[in-house]
Amino acid sequence: MTTAPKARSGVDIVNLASQYRADFPILEQKAPDGRPLVYLDHAATSQKPRQVLAALQQYYNCDNANVHRGAHQLSARATESFERARSITAEFIGASSSREIVFTRNASEAINLVARTWGDANLRKGDEVLLTVMEHHSNLVPWQLLAQRTGCVLRHVGITESGELDLADFRAKLSERTRLVSLVHISNALGCCNPLGEVIPLAHKVGALVLVDACQSLAHQPIDTVALDADFLVGSSHKLCGPTGMGFLWGREALLEAMPPFLGGGEMIQDVFLDSSSWAVLPHKFEAGTPAIGEAVGMGAAIRYLQAIGLDAIQAWEAQLTRYLFERLHAIDGVKILGPTPEQQPERGALATFLVDGVHANDIAELIDASGICIRSGHHCCQPLHRHYGVTASARASLSFTSTFEEIDRFSDELASTVAFLREHS
Ligand code: ALA
Repeated sequence: MTTAPKARSGVDIVNLASQYRADFPILEQKAPDGRPLVYLDHAATSQKPRQVLAALQQYYNCDNANVHRGAHQLSARATESFERARSITAEFIGASSSREIVFTRNASEAINLVARTWGDANLRKGDEVLLTVMEHHSNLVPWQLLAQRTGCVLRHVGITESGELDLADFRAKLSERTRLVSLVHISNALGCCNPLGEVIPLAHKVGALVLVDACQSLAHQPIDTVALDADFLVGSSHKLCGPTGMGFLWGREALLEAMPPFLGGGEMIQDVFLDSSSWAVLPHKFEAGTPAIGEAVGMGAAIRYLQAIGLDAIQAWEAQLTRYLFERLHAIDGVKILGPTPEQQPERGALATFLVDGVHANDIAELIDASGICIRSGHHCCQPLHRHYGVTASARASLSFTSTFEEIDRFSDELASTVAFLREHS
């Protein structure tokens, strides 16, 4: 009997694509040339398994009603399903209570919520918010707006030669003036996995809070907010096999309690008078209006689906695929991958963002799309990062546990011939 190879973590490396790919109807599509479609844009949005589609259909077929409102049975069932999704989300990230999970439209809204409420209430002229050069626009722009409103100062940690967070620069820029450190866990462009275990204690030492953007890590490795000791964490349903239009903010209960509401309206109130109102208890204080009920139920189903596979197993399998992706890309003349290699950072994200000498990323993406291969090109919502590298665009192939070595081969072979073609015809 042969034993399965093991990842560094000691977890068995199991070919998850062979077990779970069939759950994704969209991946059964064929490209125009009859070959299977190759979807390598999972970092932009993940695909949805039958189990999530079934949960959505079940909700709308059987339980659909408004939540927390009606006395009737449909409303009771809808409320139960909606609040179960909240408990599932809380348990998924190791939150102490589901009161700490605020449902939002997406992770951007969750960050805006913190900036508008905690930020407006607590930051004054001269206070500092420490960000990084690699942040997604969603973790830059809300703080720029906050700085315009309050006069707080934004500082940005740089990155090293290898495309990782520059910890020395982080230490240098962190000070008693820093009130908040807000950073991405796994960069959607560099793929680097930031050392939260070092960053968070250092930030707390100077009295700063820490917000973690976990959009690119939640579906790829186990996360425990209690162990991390962060103060806020944001996530997005559509990046973890759930529906779009759904995200969440996790915050420490005491922080959320002290924060003023974000949007006003129904659902977030306790009592309303003509000239004043009082607020509902957590987390409803932050959820104005009818929420995205079906989407929350879908996200809950997606989380359960990922948990059943096992986040450790997903991380181990995706790490194998990522090493192979890097190996194949490195073999193509003129390809430069941004971010650390899997050897430099084994825990890095399952994606490769790259530049090709003399060839524009958009031309690559368009041409290989004609062969049924979907990758992303552009600035990936990280314009400052691209400016750092002196480019306006890069190409990115991003993987999931449904990805296969054959897909990476198809992509790499097609990329090599596309690059050769474009060079010849430029
Ligand atoms: N943030 C998403 C990406 O990286 C849209 O593609």
